[in-house]
Amino acid sequence: MGVIGYPIKHSLSPQMHNAAFESLGLYMSYHAFEVPPERLHQAIEGVRGLGLRGLNVTIPHKVNVIPFLDTVDELASEIGAVNTIVNDNGILKGYNTDGEGFLNSLLNFIDGDLRDMSVLIIGAGGASKAVTLTIAKHGVKEIAISNRTLSKGEALAKSCSKYASSSSISMKDGEKFIDQFDIIINTTSIGMINQAEIPMSLDRLPSNKNIYLCDLIYTPMQTKFLLEGQKKGAKTLNGLDMFINQGALAFEHWTGKKAPAVVMKETVIKHLQGGN
Ligand code: ATR
Repeated sequence: MGVIGYPIKHSLSPQMHNAAFESLGLYMSYHAFEVPPERLHQAIEGVRGLGLRGLNVTIPHKVNVIPFLDTVDELASEIGAVNTIVNDNGILKGYNTDGEGFLNSLLNFIDGDLRDMSVLIIGAGGASKAVTLTIAKHGVKEIAISNRTLSKGEALAKSCSKYASSSSISMKDGEKFIDQFDIIINTTSIGMINQAEIPMSLDRLPSNKNIYLCDLIYTPMQTKFLLEGQKKGAKTLNGLDMFINQGALAFEHWTGKKAPAVVMKETVIKHLQGGN
């Protein structure tokens, strides 16, 4: 197995999956392959040629890989992006485990039924598409998408509308009406590179209401968005469990075995803290 991306140096997937294989005594291994965009087709043909069991796919290949696969499952096809490939005797099938990985961490985190909750999503890029469509398909009271470029938010709201009540609102209205939501999710990378940045002002976040604030970022584990939310009494969830869960679901596609999620999480935390 392996992961393809460009660049790929900082991926923790090899450590996470190799620890999982070892803990179950599986004779398998997982490597990181740096594949520039012009080599993507050759890399995918190499999966067939070498008889790899599968791959994870990360930025910038999640969308462009689709034409090189034989089939794509329904959710991945709706999202328009693949992060996991399974090779069954030369037939390559694509899946997207990012959205489900996040949904599982969210369902674990909240008290109460997601179907009764209103969700505000910040961002409408690739990560948002996976998360937003998966939440809509699960069932939710209402989804609003706030994106800097309104037209992208509108397109995503439209594709979710067959599953849940969905709308696109401006970033300003997201800030203004923030008190109307139970769950607020940052899907942008704002707060990752520049840690002083916040995707949306939380000034109007009420402190007398149970609010769940989520960030897909896990480096750093505490973004400014989450820290500001905590000051207002919100419960917060970072992207670490989403990362573990997307890997666990991929592992299950490849091996047919339940992934050892605790071992996977311990390994990732150890590496994030600078261990070997
Ligand atoms: P990813 O795969 O990580 O989701 P992406 O598809 O490039 O990356 O999407 C990035 C998202 O973050 C988009 O919603 C983008 O908003 P635009 O659609 O307006 O480009 C959002 N984003 C990135 N930088 C931003 C910034 N400085 N302010 C507001 N939104 C930003």
